[in-house]
Amino acid sequence: MNAAERIQELKAQRKAVILAHNYQSPEVQDVADYVGDSLGLSQKAASTDAEVIIFCGVDFMAESAKILSPDKKVVLPESDAMCPMSAMCTDLELAPVKEKYPEAAIVAYVNTSAAVKALADVCCTSANAVRVVGKMPQKRIIFVPDRNLGAYVQRFHPDKEILLWPGFCPTHHDIDVQQLNEIKRKHPKAKLMVHPECTPEVIDLADHVSSTEGMIKYAKTSDAQEFIVGTEVDMTYRLGKEAPGKTFIPVPTAVCPNMKRTTISSLIKALETLSPEITLSPEIIEAARRPLERMMEIGRGD
Ligand code: 13P
Ligand code: SF4
Repeated sequence: MNAAERIQELKAQRKAVILAHNYQSPEVQDVADYVGDSLGLSQKAASTDAEVIIFCGVDFMAESAKILSPDKKVVLPESDAMCPMSAMCTDLELAPVKEKYPEAAIVAYVNTSAAVKALADVCCTSANAVRVVGKMPQKRIIFVPDRNLGAYVQRFHPDKEILLWPGFCPTHHDIDVQQLNEIKRKHPKAKLMVHPECTPEVIDLADHVSSTEGMIKYAKTSDAQEFIVGTEVDMTYRLGKEAPGKTFIPVPTAVCPNMKRTTISSLIKALETLSPEITLSPEIIEAARRPLERMMEIGRGD
């Protein structure tokens, strides 16, 4: 029996579903039941009737799955798969800021811990951040933790006063204009698509800015044949599958090491042992569920 067959067998035994983020390695993407962006993964986690969710991604994603499906067992195959940007904003740091600005709405990017979500008015993903902020009645918004995504949202809402938390995603923040210009010179016909976690200078250079799933829609509907992909390198694998015949050029330095921790062997081990399991207190689940559900009500993203 090969690894893929073993995974299928274990999945049936465990009544498990495998969810994987678009930045997972190609082998992991290939054995997942669903591959997508943070918004799509949250929706799948909330709607699945499986008994076990094996989450191939990073800590905050598996926590969101647990919050949305508290009665299910949620397993993160590699407990060290943690998002450094999420760690840049803790509940202890956010609580005094919330107290200082009682009239402001706290909008928490899903790349946050459950404890930070519990302090927020609403969550957002990169796919719906512009829409979610627009729906908030408050003029002042405390946006955590990604200063780049927050600054991008500010462009669409000049009427809002967005207070930017100083967090960032190292993988996207390090993509730079000079590097992109060099790739553009080699591929003059290629369209440049970038993630809104990139810096404002990189966003200014782009033909298209969206979440990872938004990039698939753009690649499929655009007349262009070649695309420079300004996000994590393995996004090009998903794009290649979804838009066959088109060419996707990665930014080779844009690797998220935490997304790469999950391997086929850690996935098999997770299915065999149903661990490491995500556990959260009922109080945190209750408090963090409200802003996540409010995000879902506000609607789908781009
Ligand atoms: P999306 O897939 O939602 O665009 O998120 C990107 C990301 O960096 C997740 O960690
Ligand atoms: Fe976190 Fe960035 Fe990795 Fe996404 S790509 S998990 S935001 S470090």
